[in-house]
Amino acid sequence: MSNAESIAKRRTFGIISHPDAGKTTLTEKLLLFGGAIQTAGAVKNNKIKKTATSDFMEIEKQRGISVATSVMAFEYKDKQINILDTPGHKDFAEDTYRTLTAVDSVILVVDAASGVEEQTKKLMEVCRMRKTPVIIFVNKMDREAKYIFDLLDELESELDIKTRPLTWPIGMGDRFKGVYNLYDKNINLFQANKTKIAKDKVSMEDINDPTIDELVGEAPAAELREEVEIIEGVYEEFSREAYLSGDLAPVFFGSAVNNFGVEELLDAFCRISPAPRGRETNLRFIEPSDKKFSGFVFKIHANLDPKHRDRIAFLRIVSGKFERNKFYNHVRLEKKLKFPNPTSFMAQDKSVIEEAFPGDVVGLYDTGNFKIGDTLNEGENFFFKGIPSFSPEIFMELENLDPMKSKQLDKGIRQLMDEGLAQLFVQQPGNRKIVGTVGALQFEVIAYRLENEYGANCRFAPKSYSKACWVTSENDDQLNSFMRAKTVDLARDKDDNLVFLAQTPFLLQMAEQDYPDLTFHKTSAFKLEKEFN
Ligand code: G4P
Repeated sequence: MSNAESIAKRRTFGIISHPDAGKTTLTEKLLLFGGAIQTAGAVKNNKIKKTATSDFMEIEKQRGISVATSVMAFEYKDKQINILDTPGHKDFAEDTYRTLTAVDSVILVVDAASGVEEQTKKLMEVCRMRKTPVIIFVNKMDREAKYIFDLLDELESELDIKTRPLTWPIGMGDRFKGVYNLYDKNINLFQANKTKIAKDKVSMEDINDPTIDELVGEAPAAELREEVEIIEGVYEEFSREAYLSGDLAPVFFGSAVNNFGVEELLDAFCRISPAPRGRETNLRFIEPSDKKFSGFVFKIHANLDPKHRDRIAFLRIVSGKFERNKFYNHVRLEKKLKFPNPTSFMAQDKSVIEEAFPGDVVGLYDTGNFKIGDTLNEGENFFFKGIPSFSPEIFMELENLDPMKSKQLDKGIRQLMDEGLAQLFVQQPGNRKIVGTVGALQFEVIAYRLENEYGANCRFAPKSYSKACWVTSENDDQLNSFMRAKTVDLARDKDDNLVFLAQTPFLLQMAEQDYPDLTFHKTSAFKLEKEFN
């Protein structure tokens, strides 16, 4: 198969949702369809339990399982599909944000009764920033849901994206009869069935076909006709271009736990979703069709064995062909590296691969060479942009409890930061280390790993900061006067960028007002943001 054919058949995407909307269930059903797993329950264990107990071994065990399910590859029809797993637990949201830099599109799962929730909004912000194409799957139609037109309005206003239903539910909850496919003009009748795949599709001439009345009853059929008329009148025709540019989200309805509506979703996904896309670098845009290999690391996972500090770096291939045992250029380190055991992931199976193509993700065993965002290529001196750090929300000062072990602590905390577990901000005077995370669970994981893997004892003292923003300006006078006024609330990140630690959202607002020539960035991707805006 030629490189061009290999690229054309690949689809790399992520499934995102607010916890409990049904992401895990949908992932599992897609794998069942793709024949990658035979039984339900295989992906389920991947979830970090919501109780957030301090059971560290449990956390570690679950992190371990999630290595295996970091990428789930399967073939469906003529496509090679790579699902990149995104942690559902909100404390690991930053992991999810970064994974979104490695996908070409996403499926957003929404609970039909809850509608748009907090995490849904945050995740969509990241998609919008990157103009990632989004398909929405409205799940749990077997339960009482919101009035569907209201739900669509809510999706549009809260997520700031146009929607276009491609299927339509007939009733909901106890009265849920199935979905009408607005494009193929067939009805898939609902059966509650958790193990088998529903195949009872009935095709019809059009929406006026009397078969519909026979299948679902006269009143639901009349309601369906009315609703379809409204859809045709109110919503624009589905435009693939608008979907691909991230302006329009096609919407599907179903019930993941019942295997229902999942096939329509997967078929449409194969038809409309984008093949692997290129990525921007500091030099130029790299197309997947470029002959030379390039890729970037978007995730690093510590291995389970605490005695060996080796890790797996996940590399998304952007262009060319990646080959086992060939020397590649590690741009940041200016070092040639080769990989004897690059790994691919097929649901729960890992295997060593000889080659991989754009869109693929390979796991590289690493003894400390990689940081998140690193570029590998065939010699040219460019690096991929836009693997951003996001503004953390919880801050603690790291205190060393054992002065004899400060070297270990220093090394440990830096390595854990390379993995992207949290962000480190250093404050002067005194070299004080402020650790910022998106969730509270990370502090427990960090303390536990520092002790177990590096022999360093630490304690975290809460800091009353609410937001960290990267600050840039072309007005040096204003920047200097800001730095003089805010000395105690300033810090430097790992790349020595200036960061303002705002005690309250109000103080951040005040700073924005008082220093109009300064820009306060919510992610470290400000260079990239500039290009997008
Ligand atoms: P998440 O990964 O987005 O957090 O959600 P997950 O798939 O774990 O689903 C959350 C809960 O919603 C699960 O119930 C799951 O069975 C249920 N669920 C998923 N899809 C549907 C659906 O289409 N209809 C209905 N009614 N429920 C659905 P749970 O009680 O938390 O777990 P379990 O005991 O059922 O495994």
